[in-house]
Amino acid sequence: MNQKRIILDTDPGIDDSLAILLALASPEITLEGLSVVHGNSSTEQGTNNALSVLELAQASHVPVYKGCELPLVQPSLLAPETHGEQGIGYAKLSAPQTKPQVQKGSDFLINSIMSKPGEITLVAIGPLTNIALAIRQEPRIVENVKEVFIMGGAIRHEGNTTPLAEFNTFVDPHAAHIVFHSGMPITLTPLDVTYDCIFLKDDLNRLLKIDSPITKFISDATRFYMEFHDEYQKIDGCVINDPMTLALTLMPEICDYQELYVDVDISTGVGLGNTFADFYNYEKKTPNMKVALGVRPRVFMELFIERMEKLAKSLS
Ligand code: BDR
Ligand code: CA
Repeated sequence: MNQKRIILDTDPGIDDSLAILLALASPEITLEGLSVVHGNSSTEQGTNNALSVLELAQASHVPVYKGCELPLVQPSLLAPETHGEQGIGYAKLSAPQTKPQVQKGSDFLINSIMSKPGEITLVAIGPLTNIALAIRQEPRIVENVKEVFIMGGAIRHEGNTTPLAEFNTFVDPHAAHIVFHSGMPITLTPLDVTYDCIFLKDDLNRLLKIDSPITKFISDATRFYMEFHDEYQKIDGCVINDPMTLALTLMPEICDYQELYVDVDISTGVGLGNTFADFYNYEKKTPNMKVALGVRPRVFMELFIERMEKLAKSLS
Protein backbone atom coordinates (compact mmCIF):
# COMPACT_ATOMS: atom_id res chain seq x y z
CA MET A 1 0.00 0.00 0.00
CA ASN A 2 1.24 3.47 -0.88
CA GLN A 3 1.39 5.13 2.54
CA LYS A 4 0.37 8.77 2.89
CA ARG A 5 2.74 10.64 5.17
CA ILE A 6 0.51 13.04 7.06
CA ILE A 7 1.12 15.85 9.53
CA LEU A 8 -1.93 17.09 11.41
CA ASP A 9 -1.77 20.73 12.46
CA THR A 10 -4.47 20.84 15.10
CA ASP A 11 -6.12 22.64 18.05
CA PRO A 12 -7.62 19.71 20.00
CA GLY A 13 -10.63 20.21 20.29
CA ILE A 14 -13.44 17.62 20.18
CA ASP A 15 -13.57 17.13 16.40
CA ASP A 16 -9.77 17.49 16.22
CA SER A 17 -9.50 14.54 18.62
CA LEU A 18 -11.78 12.54 16.32
CA ALA A 19 -9.53 13.44 13.38
CA ILE A 20 -6.49 12.17 15.32
CA LEU A 21 -8.34 8.90 16.00
CA LEU A 22 -9.37 8.60 12.34
CA ALA A 23 -5.76 9.07 11.22
CA LEU A 24 -4.63 6.35 13.66
CA ALA A 25 -7.42 4.06 12.47
CA SER A 26 -6.46 4.43 8.81
CA PRO A 27 -3.92 1.91 7.48
CA GLU A 28 -3.26 4.14 4.45
CA ILE A 29 -1.81 6.84 6.73
CA THR A 30 1.54 7.19 8.43
CA LEU A 31 0.99 9.91 11.01
CA GLU A 32 4.34 11.71 11.03
CA GLY A 33 3.42 13.97 13.93
CA LEU A 34 1.05 16.57 15.31
CA SER A 35 1.78 20.27 15.51
CA VAL A 36 -0.52 21.99 17.97
CA VAL A 37 -1.88 25.50 17.62
CA HIS A 38 -4.09 27.78 19.77
CA GLY A 39 -7.78 27.78 18.86
CA ASN A 40 -10.37 25.59 20.53
CA SER A 41 -8.08 25.52 23.59
CA SER A 42 -4.81 27.15 24.56
CA THR A 43 -1.76 25.61 22.92
CA GLU A 44 -0.71 24.20 26.30
CA GLN A 45 -4.09 22.51 26.90
CA GLY A 46 -4.35 21.37 23.27
CA THR A 47 -0.89 19.80 23.47
CA ASN A 48 -1.90 17.86 26.59
CA ASN A 49 -5.11 16.78 24.88
CA ALA A 50 -3.17 15.60 21.82
CA LEU A 51 -0.79 13.57 23.99
CA SER A 52 -3.65 12.07 26.03
CA VAL A 53 -5.67 11.12 22.95
CA LEU A 54 -2.60 9.42 21.46
CA GLU A 55 -2.09 7.54 24.74
CA LEU A 56 -5.74 6.51 24.77
CA ALA A 57 -5.25 4.99 21.32
CA GLN A 58 -1.92 3.42 22.36
CA ALA A 59 -0.08 5.58 19.86
CA SER A 60 2.38 7.52 22.01
CA HIS A 61 5.05 6.91 19.40
CA VAL A 62 3.52 9.74 17.34
CA PRO A 63 5.48 12.92 18.21
CA VAL A 64 3.64 16.05 19.32
CA TYR A 65 5.06 19.55 18.80
CA LYS A 66 3.84 22.66 20.54
CA GLY A 67 3.16 25.46 18.11
CA CYS A 68 2.17 29.07 18.35
CA GLU A 69 0.23 30.36 21.37
CA LEU A 70 -1.35 33.41 19.74
CA PRO A 71 -2.76 34.59 16.41
CA LEU A 72 -0.43 36.73 14.25
CA VAL A 73 -2.29 40.01 14.76
CA GLN A 74 -5.65 39.40 16.45
CA PRO A 75 -6.06 38.87 20.19
CA SER A 76 -6.46 35.30 21.37
CA LEU A 77 -9.91 33.70 21.03
CA LEU A 78 -10.55 30.25 22.52
CA ALA A 79 -13.78 28.22 22.35
CA PRO A 80 -14.69 26.73 25.76
CA GLU A 81 -18.44 27.07 25.04
CA THR A 82 -18.05 24.79 21.99
CA HIS A 83 -15.43 22.30 23.18
CA GLY A 84 -15.54 22.55 27.01
CA GLU A 85 -13.05 24.07 29.46
CA GLN A 86 -10.48 21.39 28.64
CA GLY A 87 -11.29 21.19 24.94
CA ILE A 88 -12.63 17.61 24.98
CA GLY A 89 -16.21 18.12 26.16
CA TYR A 90 -17.24 15.90 29.08
CA ALA A 91 -14.40 13.46 28.45
CA LYS A 92 -11.84 13.03 31.21
CA LEU A 93 -8.51 11.68 30.07
CA SER A 94 -5.66 11.03 32.46
CA ALA A 95 -2.80 13.52 32.37
CA PRO A 96 -0.35 12.42 29.67
CA GLN A 97 2.72 10.41 30.64
CA THR A 98 4.51 11.52 27.49
CA LYS A 99 5.86 14.99 26.79
CA PRO A 100 5.83 17.16 23.71
CA GLN A 101 9.01 17.37 21.62
CA VAL A 102 11.40 20.23 22.25
CA GLN A 103 11.21 21.51 18.67
CA LYS A 104 8.55 24.15 17.96
CA GLY A 105 5.59 23.28 15.71
CA SER A 106 6.63 25.51 12.82
CA ASP A 107 10.20 24.13 12.88
CA PHE A 108 8.83 20.61 12.79
CA LEU A 109 6.70 21.48 9.75
CA ILE A 110 9.69 22.98 7.96
CA ASN A 111 12.10 20.14 8.80
CA SER A 112 9.66 17.41 7.82
CA ILE A 113 8.64 19.00 4.55
CA MET A 114 12.17 19.98 3.52
CA SER A 115 13.68 16.61 4.42
CA LYS A 116 11.04 14.68 2.45
CA PRO A 117 10.35 16.87 -0.57
CA GLY A 118 7.05 16.12 -2.29
CA GLU A 119 6.05 13.53 0.31
CA ILE A 120 4.29 15.31 3.18
CA THR A 121 0.56 15.93 3.14
CA LEU A 122 -0.37 18.62 5.59
CA VAL A 123 -3.85 18.50 7.12
CA ALA A 124 -4.60 21.78 8.88
CA ILE A 125 -7.65 21.65 11.14
CA GLY A 126 -7.12 24.68 13.36
CA PRO A 127 -6.27 28.35 12.86
CA LEU A 128 -3.45 28.59 10.32
CA THR A 129 -0.87 30.37 12.52
CA ASN A 130 1.76 27.58 12.55
CA ILE A 131 1.59 27.12 8.78
CA ALA A 132 1.81 30.87 8.08
CA LEU A 133 4.83 31.16 10.38
CA ALA A 134 6.50 28.21 8.71
CA ILE A 135 5.93 29.77 5.27
CA ARG A 136 7.49 33.04 6.40
CA GLN A 137 10.42 31.19 8.03
CA GLU A 138 11.09 28.88 5.07
CA PRO A 139 9.20 29.85 1.90
CA ARG A 140 10.56 26.80 0.05
CA ILE A 141 8.06 24.60 1.91
CA VAL A 142 5.47 25.91 -0.55
CA GLU A 143 7.05 23.97 -3.44
CA ASN A 144 8.06 21.02 -1.32
CA VAL A 145 4.83 20.09 0.43
CA LYS A 146 2.83 17.44 -1.44
CA GLU A 147 -0.63 18.83 -0.69
CA VAL A 148 -2.44 20.82 1.98
CA PHE A 149 -5.97 20.04 3.17
CA ILE A 150 -7.49 22.86 5.17
CA MET A 151 -10.63 22.86 7.33
CA GLY A 152 -11.73 26.44 7.25
CA GLY A 153 -13.91 29.13 5.79
CA ALA A 154 -17.54 29.45 4.86
CA ILE A 155 -17.89 30.23 1.16
CA ARG A 156 -21.64 30.36 0.55
CA HIS A 157 -22.51 29.15 4.02
CA GLU A 158 -23.15 31.42 7.01
CA GLY A 159 -20.37 31.71 9.56
CA ASN A 160 -20.26 29.73 12.79
CA THR A 161 -18.37 32.38 14.78
CA THR A 162 -19.69 35.62 13.30
CA PRO A 163 -22.54 35.91 10.79
CA LEU A 164 -19.88 35.84 8.06
CA ALA A 165 -16.87 33.99 9.40
CA GLU A 166 -15.93 30.43 10.25
CA PHE A 167 -13.94 29.83 13.47
CA ASN A 168 -10.49 28.90 12.07
CA THR A 169 -10.38 31.79 9.61
CA PHE A 170 -11.86 34.23 12.13
CA VAL A 171 -9.36 33.37 14.87
CA ASP A 172 -6.35 34.05 12.66
CA PRO A 173 -7.47 35.70 9.42
CA HIS A 174 -4.00 37.09 8.72
CA ALA A 175 -2.48 33.62 8.88
CA ALA A 176 -5.21 32.33 6.56
CA HIS A 177 -4.39 35.19 4.18
CA ILE A 178 -0.71 34.21 4.07
CA VAL A 179 -1.49 30.53 3.50
CA PHE A 180 -4.25 31.07 0.91
CA HIS A 181 -1.96 33.28 -1.18
CA SER A 182 1.22 31.25 -0.69
CA GLY A 183 0.94 29.08 -3.79
CA MET A 184 0.62 25.84 -1.78
CA PRO A 185 -1.59 23.18 -3.44
CA ILE A 186 -4.65 23.62 -1.22
CA THR A 187 -7.91 21.71 -0.91
CA LEU A 188 -10.34 23.66 1.26
CA THR A 189 -13.11 22.02 3.28
CA PRO A 190 -15.43 24.87 4.31
CA LEU A 191 -18.60 24.80 6.39
CA ASP A 192 -20.52 24.47 3.08
CA VAL A 193 -19.73 20.74 3.17
CA THR A 194 -18.97 20.02 6.82
CA TYR A 195 -22.38 21.32 7.95
CA ASP A 196 -23.99 18.63 5.81
CA CYS A 197 -22.13 15.95 7.76
CA ILE A 198 -23.87 15.48 11.07
CA PHE A 199 -22.83 12.81 13.53
CA LEU A 200 -26.19 11.66 14.88
CA LYS A 201 -27.19 10.16 18.21
CA ASP A 202 -27.94 6.96 16.28
CA ASP A 203 -24.34 6.96 15.00
CA LEU A 204 -23.09 7.32 18.55
CA ASN A 205 -25.40 4.54 19.76
CA ARG A 206 -24.02 2.27 17.05
CA LEU A 207 -20.48 2.93 18.30
CA LEU A 208 -21.54 2.41 21.91
CA LYS A 209 -22.40 -1.22 21.13
CA ILE A 210 -18.65 -1.71 21.53
CA ASP A 211 -17.51 -1.35 25.11
CA SER A 212 -14.12 0.33 24.86
CA PRO A 213 -12.25 3.38 26.17
CA ILE A 214 -12.35 4.74 22.61
CA THR A 215 -16.13 4.63 22.30
CA LYS A 216 -16.49 6.01 25.83
CA PHE A 217 -14.22 8.92 24.90
CA ILE A 218 -16.16 9.60 21.69
CA SER A 219 -19.41 9.50 23.62
CA ASP A 220 -18.28 11.81 26.46
CA ALA A 221 -16.69 14.27 24.04
CA THR A 222 -19.51 14.42 21.49
CA ARG A 223 -22.29 14.62 24.11
CA PHE A 224 -20.98 18.09 25.01
CA TYR A 225 -20.60 19.00 21.32
CA MET A 226 -24.17 17.86 20.60
CA GLU A 227 -25.50 19.99 23.45
CA PHE A 228 -23.64 22.99 22.00
CA HIS A 229 -25.04 22.38 18.51
CA ASP A 230 -28.54 22.01 19.90
CA GLU A 231 -28.38 25.14 22.06
CA TYR A 232 -26.63 27.50 19.61
CA GLN A 233 -27.62 26.20 16.18
CA LYS A 234 -30.66 23.95 16.69
CA ILE A 235 -28.79 21.06 15.10
CA ASP A 236 -29.67 17.56 16.30
CA GLY A 237 -26.29 15.84 16.52
CA CYS A 238 -22.91 17.47 15.92
CA VAL A 239 -20.87 18.61 12.95
CA ILE A 240 -17.53 16.81 12.86
CA ASN A 241 -15.61 19.14 10.54
CA ASP A 242 -12.08 17.94 11.20
CA PRO A 243 -12.28 14.17 10.59
CA MET A 244 -14.23 15.00 7.44
CA THR A 245 -11.32 17.06 6.19
CA LEU A 246 -8.87 14.25 6.98
CA ALA A 247 -11.17 11.74 5.25
CA LEU A 248 -10.69 13.58 1.94
CA THR A 249 -7.05 12.47 1.91
CA LEU A 250 -8.29 8.86 1.86
CA MET A 251 -11.48 9.15 -0.12
CA PRO A 252 -11.54 12.33 -2.20
CA GLU A 253 -14.76 11.16 -3.88
CA ILE A 254 -16.71 12.05 -0.73
CA CYS A 255 -16.83 15.61 -2.13
CA ASP A 256 -17.24 17.50 -5.39
CA TYR A 257 -14.79 20.32 -5.96
CA GLN A 258 -14.38 23.55 -7.84
CA GLU A 259 -11.07 25.30 -8.63
CA LEU A 260 -11.56 28.85 -7.37
CA TYR A 261 -9.81 32.04 -6.40
CA VAL A 262 -10.58 32.42 -2.70
CA ASP A 263 -9.70 35.29 -0.41
CA VAL A 264 -10.18 36.11 3.25
CA ASP A 265 -11.21 39.46 4.66
CA ILE A 266 -8.51 41.00 6.85
CA SER A 267 -10.06 44.45 7.05
CA THR A 268 -11.32 45.46 10.47
CA GLY A 269 -15.07 45.53 9.81
CA VAL A 270 -17.91 43.06 10.26
CA GLY A 271 -16.45 40.84 7.55
CA LEU A 272 -13.22 40.00 9.39
CA GLY A 273 -12.32 36.38 8.65
CA ASN A 274 -14.99 36.03 5.96
CA THR A 275 -13.89 33.81 3.08
CA PHE A 276 -15.24 34.46 -0.40
CA ALA A 277 -14.75 32.94 -3.83
CA ASP A 278 -14.68 34.66 -7.20
CA PHE A 279 -17.22 32.32 -8.84
CA TYR A 280 -17.65 34.49 -11.96
CA ASN A 281 -13.93 35.25 -12.24
CA TYR A 282 -14.46 39.02 -12.07
CA GLU A 283 -10.89 39.56 -10.98
CA LYS A 284 -9.29 37.35 -13.68
CA LYS A 285 -7.08 35.70 -11.12
CA THR A 286 -5.80 32.15 -11.33
CA PRO A 287 -7.58 29.83 -8.87
CA ASN A 288 -5.55 29.41 -5.68
CA MET A 289 -7.29 26.34 -4.35
CA LYS A 290 -9.70 23.48 -4.88
CA VAL A 291 -12.83 24.01 -2.81
CA ALA A 292 -15.14 21.20 -1.66
CA LEU A 293 -18.69 22.44 -2.35
CA GLY A 294 -20.72 19.26 -2.65
CA VAL A 295 -20.67 16.24 -0.35
CA ARG A 296 -22.02 12.72 0.12
CA PRO A 297 -22.40 12.91 3.92
CA ARG A 298 -23.28 9.31 4.68
CA VAL A 299 -20.33 8.00 2.65
CA PHE A 300 -18.05 9.93 4.97
CA MET A 301 -20.00 8.94 8.08
CA GLU A 302 -19.84 5.22 7.21
CA LEU A 303 -16.08 5.47 6.72
CA PHE A 304 -15.70 7.30 10.04
CA ILE A 305 -17.91 4.95 12.04
CA GLU A 306 -16.46 1.76 10.54
CA ARG A 307 -12.95 2.90 11.31
CA MET A 308 -13.85 3.92 14.86
CA GLU A 309 -15.47 0.51 15.35
CA LYS A 310 -12.32 -1.23 14.15
CA LEU A 311 -10.06 0.92 16.33
CA ALA A 312 -12.28 0.40 19.38
CA LYS A 313 -12.35 -3.38 18.86
CA SER A 314 -8.62 -3.59 18.36
CA LEU A 315 -7.99 -1.74 21.65
CA SER A 316 -10.69 -3.17 23.90
C1 BDR B 1 -13.56 24.45 13.10
O1 BDR B 1 -13.44 25.20 14.32
C2 BDR B 1 -13.38 24.34 15.42
O2 BDR B 1 -14.47 24.56 16.27
C3 BDR B 1 -13.39 22.93 14.92
O3 BDR B 1 -12.38 22.17 15.58
C4 BDR B 1 -13.11 23.04 13.43
O4 BDR B 1 -11.74 22.92 13.13
C5 BDR B 1 -14.98 24.56 12.58
O5 BDR B 1 -15.32 25.87 12.35
CA1 CA C 1 -10.10 22.20 14.83
